[in-house]
Amino acid sequence: MGILIKNGEIITASDRYVGDIYCANGKIQATGPGLDKPSAQDTVIDASGQLVLPGGVDAHVHMELPFMGSESADDFETGTAAGIAGGTTSIIDFVIPARNQSLLEGLAIGNEKAKKAVCDYGFHMAITWFGDRIPEEMRACVEEEGIPSFKTFMAYKGAIGIDDGELISVMQTARGLGALVTIHCEHGEAVVALQKLLVAQGKTAPKYHAQSRPSPVEGEATGRAAMLAGLTGAPIYIVHLTCREALDAVAEARRRGQMVMAETCPQYLLLDDTVYDKPDFEGAAYVMSPPIRPKGHQDALWAGIASGLIQTVGTDHCPFNQDGQKTIGKDNFTKIPNGAAGIENRLGLLYTYGVVENRIDIHRFVDIFATQPAKIFGLYPRKGSILPGADADLVVFDPHASSTISAKTHHHRCDRNIFEGFAIKGRPSHVIVNGRVQCKDGTLDVERGAGRFLPRRLSTPSPTAVKG
Ligand code: URP
Ligand code: ZN
Ligand code: ZN
Repeated sequence: MGILIKNGEIITASDRYVGDIYCANGKIQATGPGLDKPSAQDTVIDASGQLVLPGGVDAHVHMELPFMGSESADDFETGTAAGIAGGTTSIIDFVIPARNQSLLEGLAIGNEKAKKAVCDYGFHMAITWFGDRIPEEMRACVEEEGIPSFKTFMAYKGAIGIDDGELISVMQTARGLGALVTIHCEHGEAVVALQKLLVAQGKTAPKYHAQSRPSPVEGEATGRAAMLAGLTGAPIYIVHLTCREALDAVAEARRRGQMVMAETCPQYLLLDDTVYDKPDFEGAAYVMSPPIRPKGHQDALWAGIASGLIQTVGTDHCPFNQDGQKTIGKDNFTKIPNGAAGIENRLGLLYTYGVVENRIDIHRFVDIFATQPAKIFGLYPRKGSILPGADADLVVFDPHASSTISAKTHHHRCDRNIFEGFAIKGRPSHVIVNGRVQCKDGTLDVERGAGRFLPRRLSTPSPTAVKG
């Protein structure tokens, strides 16, 4: 049974036209004006007055991640369901092996957990240590497992963070494999030193989390990562970029001719550090790394998106409940599990505060939400497009609807929403995933385990070594 979407305003990263889309067997079969349903059993969705967008691709999420003595609260089923409710139809999560653990052993655990996913998913492989067998395991990830992107952490010293020597080795190996290195950029040792200083002064409340990782800590690490990428010739992708200093480092690397890409997240575009002043430990809900920045950085990030310095907006969805999880750090901010929920809200926030408020145009919005993450991470045109042959992942979006974000109504398995009270314009009337309507007017109809692993392959990026 197919689905015919009639008379919608089809919006892609480059085009806008009123037309129809016919989907069958999980794929887009045809687009154009005046399509008829080939079979009497086909469903027709009247999309007059609505937009039709490619399903979102969130390339930065953490479902059921063991982290800082806890585990992120959404599993692959609940987290991907929340994504579908918000128009995100594919995710890329992370396998994060422990230090000295085999990458492939870590992948086996990730594969098992992800079997519950209700939408399609891929993995980035985190490199949390570098030893003799890592190059061969990285090769196996790229060539045999469909994982051509690696994740490294310059922060989280003593846990999953690596040092510069290890980072260089990862970049060199990845470059040889035509793979992409993604990087969490913060000066890990500076963070530890500042944490120690603050705690010794009795400054243990959530707001000191932000003071322990100010923006120069991120700016310096971003510049260093770009410099190392220049030495090794590796293309890199900076995850969750939050501040002017880091943006300047990306711009400088681009001026040198390097392939340095960047992602930001809605929380860094829309919140400022006054969230940490909330009473009664409520600031803990916003404890994430890097932290929410002072006023001023947000406008720079929007400008970075509009100008193309930032290519994608992911969520870094990594929810921890206030009750029983964030409270681990009640007496010491360094123990608060870092992260927050967001996968369900990315579409509404970017549309409302980006498009409706004229910060970005509608094509740039589709680009950062779906098309660029699919292109950068080797999923395009299967995902992130509205083209015959692509997976039938589509959002029929009613731009006239309005709502307010709340933890009381969201689908995240989390007792807080960091965007609580944000007004939202528009909402998906239908979310079609692999050719089936899986969310209609906010009501989910998903199937545990229906999500498929997405093996990925990158087009080999051109070398970007510093010449001289
Ligand atoms: O605070 C965060 N961002 N938690 C998730 C892990 C990471 O650094 O992305
Ligand atoms: Zn991170
Ligand atoms: Zn993350």
